[in-house]
Amino acid sequence: MMDEGRSFQDYLTAVTVQVERDLLQVFPEDWDMPSKLREAMQYSLMAGGKRMRPIMAIAAAEALGGCREATLPVACAVELVHTYSLIHDDLPAMDDDDLRRGKPTNHKVFGEAMAILAGDGLLTHAFSLVGRANRVHGVSAEQCLAIIEELSIYAGPKGMVGGQAADLLGEQGITSADELHYIHTHKTGDMIVCALKAGARTAGANQQHLNALDLYGYSIGLAFQIQDDILDLIGEEVKLGKPLKSDEKQHKVTYPFLIGLEASRQKVEDLTELGKQAVIQAGFPYPNRLLELADFLMKRDH
Ligand code: IPE
Ligand code: IPE
Ligand code: MG
Ligand code: MG
Ligand code: MG
Repeated sequence: MMDEGRSFQDYLTAVTVQVERDLLQVFPEDWDMPSKLREAMQYSLMAGGKRMRPIMAIAAAEALGGCREATLPVACAVELVHTYSLIHDDLPAMDDDDLRRGKPTNHKVFGEAMAILAGDGLLTHAFSLVGRANRVHGVSAEQCLAIIEELSIYAGPKGMVGGQAADLLGEQGITSADELHYIHTHKTGDMIVCALKAGARTAGANQQHLNALDLYGYSIGLAFQIQDDILDLIGEEVKLGKPLKSDEKQHKVTYPFLIGLEASRQKVEDLTELGKQAVIQAGFPYPNRLLELADFLMKRDH
């Protein structure tokens, strides 16, 4: 593979640059829409997220020898859905947070109504990008249809939205370990699995690859949210770009709350290993970036 020899950090930087180049262009200049709406969507989209889900999509495609350019529209689609979920997650009716990606949250700048619409706009537009993968890059119509269906299911009521609803309904002292597992698997794991499978599909993944990515994705996805809970408690606000102790403020049930910090750290490690094993055993032709990504996420401080 073209990129196999580079360090993982260089790989991350190179992919991020390409993703951000495309994200900048997802709303065509000549589309007639209220400039406030355009600004509000652009504000959160370009605020500097880690772009982990697009990177996952691309790493999954490249694990199968796929072409990066053909995966980029789908990678961006997932990032649009993710960004919408963050805008809505921060709203006063939800986590009521003031800082995101190191900047004031969308509703703080554009007001609640425009923030809701910016989220709606990002979510809806994501699906058009999957169509683009077929029209411009020749990803098969069959794979694109499967990506659209999965994006809708993983992001929807059975997926991320279901997880967010359960998160909202959760209560310290009442929510059980099983319920917390449901919350984390769906609010965070589903979009990560979605990114991986969508990317792999652009490279013509078969069912065996998809099953392996399912296990890998749910393992590192749960680890990702547990790490998010840990960082909410003991991270650095400047690095995180979001407020500390948001979970405590909202009386959220988290892994550190339920099982303690040390057991949570151990769980992140165990899940990471489990995820890596799934990839190793599936026999991808170029598995290295997926393996490096799992380790990178385990050690992240933001
Ligand atoms: C934050 O996601 C929300 C969770 C699902 C934990 P990220 O940590 O990927 O946030 P960005 O995209 O880098 O801002
Ligand atoms: C949010 O979980 C998950 C989604 C946005 C779907 P959190 O509420 O823990 O995310 P942060 O900590 O605000 O980024
Ligand atoms: Mg939340
Ligand atoms: Mg939140
Ligand atoms: Mg959090």
